[in-house]
Amino acid sequence: MAELPTVPYHPTPHDKAKELLSLAELSEGEVLFDLGCGKGNILIVGAEEFGARCVGIEKDAELVKEAREEVKRRGLEGQVEIIHGDIFAPEFWAHLGGEGKAVVRNADVVAIYLNFEMHEVLRPMLEKELREGARVASFEFFVRGWKIYREKPMMFVFKKGDGF
Ligand SMILES: C[S@@+](CC[C@H](N)C(=O)[O-])C[C@H]1O[C@@H](n2cnc3c(N)ncnc32)[C@H](O)[C@@H]1O
Repeated sequence: MAELPTVPYHPTPHDKAKELLSLAELSEGEVLFDLGCGKGNILIVGAEEFGARCVGIEKDAELVKEAREEVKRRGLEGQVEIIHGDIFAPEFWAHLGGEGKAVVRNADVVAIYLNFEMHEVLRPMLEKELREGARVASFEFFVRGWKIYREKPMMFVFKKGDGF
C-alpha cells in the first residue's frame, strides 16, 4: 500500500485556537477531537475556555508525552484525553470497525491543522463518520470539495449536512 501523507508539527497559537473554536461554535459539554493534536494547544483551549470534553490523537510519542504533561499541569486530566495513535487507524473510525469512546463519530467538532494531501485521505472518512450538525474546523487549509460554513483569515469551518 502506498505510504499515507503526513505533516510535521506546527502549533496553533492559543489565541488562534480560541478564534477557530469560536468560529466552529464549540459549546460547553460538546466533544472536541483534534486529529494530529501535537502538544495539545487546541484541546487545552477547548477545555479551559469552552468547557468541552476533548480527545486528541497524535502519532509522535514525544509530542504525546509533552501534551499529557501540560494537561496534567493544568489539572485537565478529567477533561482532556491524549491518545498515542495514527489518525488513519481503523480503531478511531466506527465505519471501519472501530469501537469505543475515541471514535471520531462521537465528535461535535473536529479540529484539523494538516495539509491538502492528508485531507484527500481524511475527507471521505469524515463524510462517512460525522453526525449531522458536526463541524470540522480547519486551520490554514480549506477542505477541497466542501462548501465553507464559516470562515476567517486562515480559518475554515464546515458543517455536516450543510456543505458536505
Ligand atoms: C501542523 S501540526 C498541528 C498540531 C495541533 N493540531 C495544533 O494545531 O496545535 C500536525 C500534527 O499532526 C501530527 N500528525 C501527522 N500525521 C499524523 C497521523 N497520521 N496520525 C496522528 N498524528 C499525525 C503531527 O505529528 C503534528 O503534531
